[in-house]
Amino acid sequence: MLVHQHDEDFEVSAPAKVNLFLEVLGKRSDGYHELETLMVTISLFDTLRFRTVDSAQFVLKNHWCGSPESARLVHELLPNDQRNLVWKAASLLAQAAGVKHAAQIDVFKRIPLAAGLAGGSSDAAATLVGLNRLWKLNLSYSDLRELGALLGSDVPFFLAQTNAAICRGRGELIEPLQMDVPLHLIIVKPDVGLSTAQVFQHCIPAPVASSVSKMAQSLQDGNLTRIGNNLMNRLNWPATRLCPQVQQLETVFTGLPVLGHVMSGSGTSYLGLCRNRQQSVALASRLRALRLGSVFAVRSGV
Ligand code: C5P
Repeated sequence: MLVHQHDEDFEVSAPAKVNLFLEVLGKRSDGYHELETLMVTISLFDTLRFRTVDSAQFVLKNHWCGSPESARLVHELLPNDQRNLVWKAASLLAQAAGVKHAAQIDVFKRIPLAAGLAGGSSDAAATLVGLNRLWKLNLSYSDLRELGALLGSDVPFFLAQTNAAICRGRGELIEPLQMDVPLHLIIVKPDVGLSTAQVFQHCIPAPVASSVSKMAQSLQDGNLTRIGNNLMNRLNWPATRLCPQVQQLETVFTGLPVLGHVMSGSGTSYLGLCRNRQQSVALASRLRALRLGSVFAVRSGV
């Protein structure tokens, strides 16, 4: 999570993530599902700009910088008020630190919403980092992770100062991984989204769970073929039932010369692992021509 200082203001970049592996181990008594997942950050960012304001007011402004096709979901799902996760993160931090709730945050959004890419969670993590700096609170990353877990299951990953990790529990227990070889991925996000809660609700945990260990080892070895073979997401099945566009993407990716493909998180974005940058750029333009949604050629581990 990089911080860039400009005169009075500063910016924090908030990366998206993808899940290379996601197993659902069972349903818990608190309503969440027990997970074993492997997440990596990718080179698709929102940017949050922080500045002090004279009044005691908190001001949040969202600016959509992504494709016009995704703008509809942004208007539906991204309010500039207390329902927004960035606002909730700011309130929580102010309350925990006993400070007044004042700042202006401009969020320049490029990560699609309801995509399984955790844009909202990453923005919330960036808000904790940014306001910790703006308000000179000196909270540690470990303190911020504890607050982050109260905001959402994916938030602590972005506060773990790593670009790859195995996440367990409901997602908040982080085991950082060393990842030396960048992965080149193509991602397609259809112009419809899925609600995380709804996808989990329709998920049937595996009778015999798959283990993340093969994927973790392949990643650490930098073995692209094995990474491709071990891509797995237990939420893929319920998402294809709920959303025909995910099913369609699965079919399209099956016909592409990628090393493997899978849905990210609870969808609806779908990713393919490429051999190198040239292949990801070439396949991205081929996919754009099919008009299945927004297409990104990205690198992991940023
Ligand atoms: O934690 P977060 O707010 O992102 O989760 C959104 C919803 O997704 C939860 O309310 C829950 O229904 C579902 N979920 C789950 N198990 C998880 C994470 C999320 O059932 N491990």
